[in-house]
Amino acid sequence: MKTAVYPGSFDPVTLGHYDIIERTAKIMDRVVIGVLQNKSKTPLFSAQERVKMLEEVTKDLTNVEVRCFDGLLIDFARSCNAKVIVRGLRAVTDFEYELQMAQTNRVIAPEIDTLFLNTNLKYSYLSSSIVKEIAEFGGDIRGFLHPQIAQKVIEKFAQGKNLETK
Ligand code: PNS
Repeated sequence: MKTAVYPGSFDPVTLGHYDIIERTAKIMDRVVIGVLQNKSKTPLFSAQERVKMLEEVTKDLTNVEVRCFDGLLIDFARSCNAKVIVRGLRAVTDFEYELQMAQTNRVIAPEIDTLFLNTNLKYSYLSSSIVKEIAEFGGDIRGFLHPQIAQKVIEKFAQGKNLETK
């Protein structure tokens, strides 16, 4: 069984992430989405909320599961029995960071490969951070997220959250 992990912050999951998940699910037997729990920056959504949102949007993809992880990505990949890490590449600006991560991961875990999927052109400009910034200032984010996720982002900011304090 070929298992891939698709790691990220997913704060929140965008249509760009979903496109990568859907395509990965077609080429792999099993996909485990790894939601990074503790990062230095404070997320808008808790890890549990991010997992729940991902479960909601992937509920029809039968070979996809969602988990939280902490610590090293390669340890998470090993715990899932995955030999492949999937990352989406939007533009050349992503490349340097992604290549550094992939090379480092390969040095510490030579049995695990990183597979890059080019993002759908429709979403090549899209990031969770940009979506949050638009939402914070009352802009229309409906074209970037699943409707139920857009609603959750709008509700967060309506509760008085902002990107400075969260
Ligand atoms: O969506 P993001 O924030 O770009 O995802 C980054 C992520 C989660 C893939 C990266 O930060 C990560 O793998 N973190 C886990 C810690 C780790 O393994 N670091 C070494 C990577 S070289």
